Amino acid sequence: MKLWGGRFTKEENQLVHNFNESLSFDRKFYRQDIEGSIAHVTMLGKQGIVSSEDQEAIVSGLKGILADLDSGKLKFTKEHEDIHSFVEANLIERIGEAGKRLHTGRSRNDQVALDMKLYCRDELGEIDKLVKALLEKLLAIMEENLDTYMPGFTHLQKAQPITLAHHIGAYFEMFSRDRSRLHDIRERMNTCPLGAGALAGTTYPLDRDYSAALLEFAGPTRNSIDSVADRDYVIEFLSAMSILMMHLSRFSEEIIIWNSNEYRFVELDDAYSTGSSIMPQKKNPDIAELVRGKTGRVYGALMAILTTMKALPLAYNKDMQEDKELTFDAIDTVKGCLALFSGMIATMTFRKDVMESSAKKGFTNATDAADYLVGRGVPFRDAHGIVGQLVLRCLEQGIALDDLSLEEFRAISPVFDEDIYESISMKTCVERRTTIGAPGQEAMKQVIETYKKQLLGNA
Ligand code: ARG
Repeated sequence: MKLWGGRFTKEENQLVHNFNESLSFDRKFYRQDIEGSIAHVTMLGKQGIVSSEDQEAIVSGLKGILADLDSGKLKFTKEHEDIHSFVEANLIERIGEAGKRLHTGRSRNDQVALDMKLYCRDELGEIDKLVKALLEKLLAIMEENLDTYMPGFTHLQKAQPITLAHHIGAYFEMFSRDRSRLHDIRERMNTCPLGAGALAGTTYPLDRDYSAALLEFAGPTRNSIDSVADRDYVIEFLSAMSILMMHLSRFSEEIIIWNSNEYRFVELDDAYSTGSSIMPQKKNPDIAELVRGKTGRVYGALMAILTTMKALPLAYNKDMQEDKELTFDAIDTVKGCLALFSGMIATMTFRKDVMESSAKKGFTNATDAADYLVGRGVPFRDAHGIVGQLVLRCLEQGIALDDLSLEEFRAISPVFDEDIYESISMKTCVERRTTIGAPGQEAMKQVIETYKKQLLGNA
């Protein structure tokens, strides 16, 4: 059944119907569509645009539809064009004449803009919860690993010693920014398009402030054309999700490297790994690889919608129907990735001994050895050269700086003394880095306190 049959003399071609319909995917926001309709008719009733009997009949009919869709009693049937037509037709079937008054002072253009906003707003909240849960897991790892020494890298080459807490803290920062982006988007998008009509408002005395308040918006949108033409919030949401996926992907990449036979910094739990059909020895990091791989899908959705929107004249155009499948897919992808990723890192074992010995063998304390000499009056450039020679000697023997005997140190520079070992221990190297943001325990503890407050604040 069509909402717009009156002006037409021919039945719609079946292929046209199939091409045009959106019920197969916009059914996903049936709940938001019904919530929006309840608010709309409540406002119509308050304004005397529909009678209170009709208003009550419509509200209870809509609630019945919602309950039957939730329970699975009511099934979506193909002949309807979209979720809006489906719900309206069903309502009329249930309550008769009164149902025909629901769409007074409304167009599917402001209706779909509202539904999409409500859906995105709800999902922003769901994703925020998942990111928060991930942050809680990261914080737990940090608190347990304030003195787990490991190499920090630049160019994927061992650079200077850090702690696992410090490394994980970098991700804590990234995911915190993701949350703050989600909050910003929510603030900016939180205006209600209901009442914008097709594009030019309506002649009915709607109380837009009232329907906006019923739906917990900060207020109504201020321009009816923009209200139905705006999908910025979808693009911002996809952009925030793309950045979030980029972070998950970088983290996944590191876990894949750390889990490799060469690194062995971590051991993934069996429940979060997969095997090979041919190679019995294999234990593969498929979850991390899939998260890395799915990042492309989410970027793809962002690019697709940016492209769809880029040349649309004002106001509504059917092109905009394309926003849904991609956004829904991106949201489901991000939620799935966040849940799996959190489980994977919570069950993964860190091989602290391997991390520390890797930091030593990688000469991550070479800068500190040079600083030791500087502390005893050697100019830095000379100190750099001396330590370079020591590194070369170690490389020849396949040992770490700490493994050299004092005689070997002294053979290159007599300035070295017994305290060199203490000065270049991983502990000293890290603990001397005490400025805020650095890996030293005291500095890290201060930062962790702020992380805890942050998580409590946004509970
Ligand atoms: N299914 C449509 C969409 O997703 C709903 C709005 C239809 N409006 C219209 N004027 N045909 O965009």
